[in-house]
Amino acid sequence: MALRVGILGAGYMGTTHANILARDDRVKVTAVADMDQARAEALAPKVGAKTVASLEALLDTGIEALYVTTPNTAHTEPVLAALAAGVHVFSEKPMATSLAEARRILEAASRGPGLYQVGHNRRFAPAYKAAKALVASRSLRVTSAHIKMNRGELQQPPWVGDRAVTGGFLYESTIHLLDMARWLLGEVAWVQAAGGSNVYREPDDLSMLLGFASGVHAAFTSCAHSTWLFPFERVELFGAHAAVVTEEMERVQFVPGLGKPIETQEFGPLPVPEKWGYAEEDRLFVEAVLTRGTPPVTAEDGYRSVELVEACYRSLMQGERVTLPLP
Ligand SMILES: NC(=O)c1ccc[n+]([C@@H]2O[C@H](COP(=O)([O-])OP(=O)(O)OC[C@H]3O[C@@H](n4cnc5c(N)ncnc54)[C@H](O)[C@@H]3O)[C@@H](O)[C@H]2O)c1
Repeated sequence: MALRVGILGAGYMGTTHANILARDDRVKVTAVADMDQARAEALAPKVGAKTVASLEALLDTGIEALYVTTPNTAHTEPVLAALAAGVHVFSEKPMATSLAEARRILEAASRGPGLYQVGHNRRFAPAYKAAKALVASRSLRVTSAHIKMNRGELQQPPWVGDRAVTGGFLYESTIHLLDMARWLLGEVAWVQAAGGSNVYREPDDLSMLLGFASGVHAAFTSCAHSTWLFPFERVELFGAHAAVVTEEMERVQFVPGLGKPIETQEFGPLPVPEKWGYAEEDRLFVEAVLTRGTPPVTAEDGYRSVELVEACYRSLMQGERVTLPLP
């Protein structure tokens, strides 16, 4: 029998995941809820599901897994309720918007029996997978990195400009590549942040220095009002006269050595669910649930990314280097 999945939050990401899941024979999207009933009613029939009025009603339908695709500060409560009911959870990023909430989810996920996966989709995007694979297969010894995670505005959808709903710009956008930095380069030992609130009423333009436990260091910039000039998201990994460079999730370039031709892999033509990693993260979540395996992005990963955001904010506020793990 197909895995019964419910969706909480029928906006952009709820719709994205529901459409992917509806194409998976192993899954039946059975129910959709949204605080805006009209949104749930618009999505549910398209994926063969029914509309229900609340999280409680969603859990009462007997779903085995819940997708939490509400705005950032509305993740913790439904995630904890679902895990307490023994329901598997896929939560959009961020795991939570404070270290204390992230720790509660980490503890609930470790108790089980429900599995927990957080939506750090970049890990499944072919461009980033190719970058990681190039580092390994071509034995690139990374010595430093330059990482950029910009955003054109904090205006669409309207809640992304409200810190009470996002937890802050670093939680909304930057966390994607903070997780990526950790995935590519290992644990972060310290951060030092500088920045200010220039256009919006929150820190919206930051430069961070990240020191990794391996000794590698990275310069990481993140501006919330950069315009959507391409590429607003970019990773550059440097070795000895060699480099791996990503541009958005469109392409990856590899420079194997001085005077050697650049090798380019293009992912532009892929459909967005594949190019952005959404299709694979959903496929692997279902696989983990069905096999009782380990989710490919764990609660520990979610917690570490929240911790990194908190460390950056603390460093910005205190004006000094902050070491990890945070107490
Ligand atoms: N992984 C990615 O690439 C990616 C991209 C965009 C957004 N996101 C994340 O996905 C989540 C949703 O973002 P979105 O762009 O889909 O937003 P959205 O505004 O399009 O959709 C959010 C939906 O949640 C509903 N909602 C709000 N509070 C609720 C509550 N308490 N209970 C039930 N429903 C509620 C809203 O009515 C809306 O329909 C956010 O956490 C965001 O950070 C991730």
